[in-house]
Amino acid sequence: MKVQIMGSGYAVPERILTNSDLEGMVDTSDEWIVSRTGIRERRIADEDVAASDLAWQAAQAALTRAGIDGRDLDLILVATVTSDMLFPSTACILQHKLGADRAAAFDLSAGCTGFLYGMVTAERFLASDQYRYVLVVGVETPSKIIDYTDRNTCVLFGDGAGAMVLGRGEGPNGIISSCLGADGAGVSLLWMPAGGSRLPASIETVNNRQHYLKMTGNEIFKFAVKAIPEYSLRVLEQAGVSMEEVDHIVLHQANLRILRAAARRMRVPWSKMVVNIDRYGNMSAASIPVAVAEAVDKNEIRAGELVLMVGFGAGLTMGATLVRWGR
Ligand code: UT7
Repeated sequence: MKVQIMGSGYAVPERILTNSDLEGMVDTSDEWIVSRTGIRERRIADEDVAASDLAWQAAQAALTRAGIDGRDLDLILVATVTSDMLFPSTACILQHKLGADRAAAFDLSAGCTGFLYGMVTAERFLASDQYRYVLVVGVETPSKIIDYTDRNTCVLFGDGAGAMVLGRGEGPNGIISSCLGADGAGVSLLWMPAGGSRLPASIETVNNRQHYLKMTGNEIFKFAVKAIPEYSLRVLEQAGVSMEEVDHIVLHQANLRILRAAARRMRVPWSKMVVNIDRYGNMSAASIPVAVAEAVDKNEIRAGELVLMVGFGAGLTMGATLVRWGR
């Protein structure tokens, strides 16, 4: 028995924020953004759209592909750092929207690695006969916590959601190996300082702009370029698979220069890299599942192919999962 991907789906808002739009908002340029990040545009949710709305669209697409509906789900996991509200969980809101009345539901917070943390968690639940289908969603609405006067962060992020239905199946396809890690020493490299129990919301925290995402980008850059090859090799070694055998590499989409540096270090041909950062920017926990689901929809990732997914992000967290695609 293997844990297989029964179906995938994604959703992005229709509204596009281009680099030239940003030129009118902060002191930046299309040339700087493209050359330093590879991003050309990103999607922004409307004011009345929250994480659970995008999650619902992505989940519906994944359920359709899997050939099941909400009532068949046993568990819903939502990876996000931009939940609808601090509590209850976005997973519970989604459970209700999907009519998934039999499903347990909870959120998990692992930054941009959240979707891979979700897959590993789903896999463990599916080891038990009590769980047949688990929905894993990576969804983010960073636009809601971005300071659009801070050029260091506002050009980078976009909104979106990706989802996969996982279930048990026979045959060679499915999750082969995974590894996860964390380094809490890097908490303040990427965070939203206020609004929790450490610094509850107050007039002072709002005036100090502490409810916005803050990032020390160049430190995260160095961490990412080191963590990607380390976790990739670790997961491949566990699986007894060589890098040459891998068909597609889906890294967390934070910066095109990070993708290029990682491909160089791992001696991977660029044609194997799945890239969507130019169109969507950094969608945090949604980046990996959106990239995979889109490539599947375009028939670029096919059943039986080996897909290596690698994430890194707030926490700090990092992780990699190797999957033979399909059921
Ligand atoms: O998803 C979670 C993980 N996040 C990441 O992986 C992000 C990783 N980091 C990065 O992608 C890059 O570090 C950034 C894209 C965030 C920044 O690129 P960088 O090449 O590391 O630039 P920098 O932060 O070292 O800044 C270089 C210069 C600075 O100006 P001075 O101090 O040299 O005069 C910045 O103020 O670029 C300036 N700068 C900008 N200029 C124009 C920063 N943002 C902008 C901007 N437009 N939007």
